[in-house]
Amino acid sequence: MQTILILGSNGQLGSDLQLIFNQSNLNYIPFKRSDFDCLTDNLENIIGPLKSNIIINCIATTNVDACELNSANAFLINSDFSYRLAMFCNKNQITLFHISTDYIFSGDKNGTYSELDNPNPLNIYGLSKLAGDIAVRNYCNKHYIFRVSSLFGRAGASGKGGNFITTIQRLARERDSISVIANQYTCPTATLDIARAIKYFIINDIQDYGIYNCVSSTSCSWYDFAKQIIMLSNLDLGKLNQADFNTYSFKARRPQNVILSIDKISKYYQMQSWQDSLKEYFFV
Ligand SMILES: NC(=O)c1ccc[n+]([C@@H]2O[C@H](COP(=O)([O-])OP(=O)(O)OC[C@H]3O[C@@H](n4cnc5c(N)ncnc54)[C@H](OP(=O)(O)O)[C@@H]3O)[C@@H](O)[C@H]2O)c1
Repeated sequence: MQTILILGSNGQLGSDLQLIFNQSNLNYIPFKRSDFDCLTDNLENIIGPLKSNIIINCIATTNVDACELNSANAFLINSDFSYRLAMFCNKNQITLFHISTDYIFSGDKNGTYSELDNPNPLNIYGLSKLAGDIAVRNYCNKHYIFRVSSLFGRAGASGKGGNFITTIQRLARERDSISVIANQYTCPTATLDIARAIKYFIINDIQDYGIYNCVSSTSCSWYDFAKQIIMLSNLDLGKLNQADFNTYSFKARRPQNVILSIDKISKYYQMQSWQDSLKEYFFV
């Protein structure tokens, strides 16, 4: 039986991987920061003895604005650790699932981004994640890089203190009005759906290694996403206003229009629409 190690198991994606793996009786070991701190603990000493066949790396520092302020930390976790993990996996013939981001792109392309498009990150988070992707691709033969975007899962992003859904719900309760950007586009993606895609690759022993965009089959503006959240939460839609990307003040620059093509992964796994995933988040 295969042994799967989930690194960053208490994060948003790590939590849903455990939920999905439990339903399939997959043999996995969850590792959170207290089990292994990638900044201070020795990879060989702690992870080596586990003799895992598959490692899923959900460790990352994901707060985009915080990465801009502390680039050293971003590169240590998102790039340097990914490089060391890739080397370790290659040496021990371990299959590595690594999680990447749509923020490696600049968002100025007219159309969807495929796995072959040139990355051009606008911020330190994206730059540090891209360096991690390159390390995984170049140092580990048996790798999958799943590029995901705008995650939502019940655990909330531990690096961000919640997710977009909980933030919108809180603001809609606390404030008289809230403004959300209406001309910035993304594919909001449920961590449950990504976990199912990863499970599919493992259970079916897919050996078509490489990069896969792994996002919802539909896209929207952040405003439209917020609108659905407010409606499903039975909160006051009248409080929601449209903001403009061009005049919004971001701490770190962000891509305006990143919609990833899922043609490649669709050969193996059919991603859900964000609308279906959102209903599942609320009602299942
Ligand atoms: N969230 C998004 O919208 C989004 C969008 C695109 C791509 N992604 C990518 O998707 C992946 C999963 O994201 P997520 O939303 O699940 O993130 P998350 O909830 O913030 O989880 C990150 C995990 O990394 C762990 N971690 C951070 N620093 C660590 C360290 N020094 N040593 C060990 N563990 C450490 C965290 O542990 P603690 O809980 O102890 O901090 C947490 O378990 C990441 O690769 C991220 O870059 C996320």
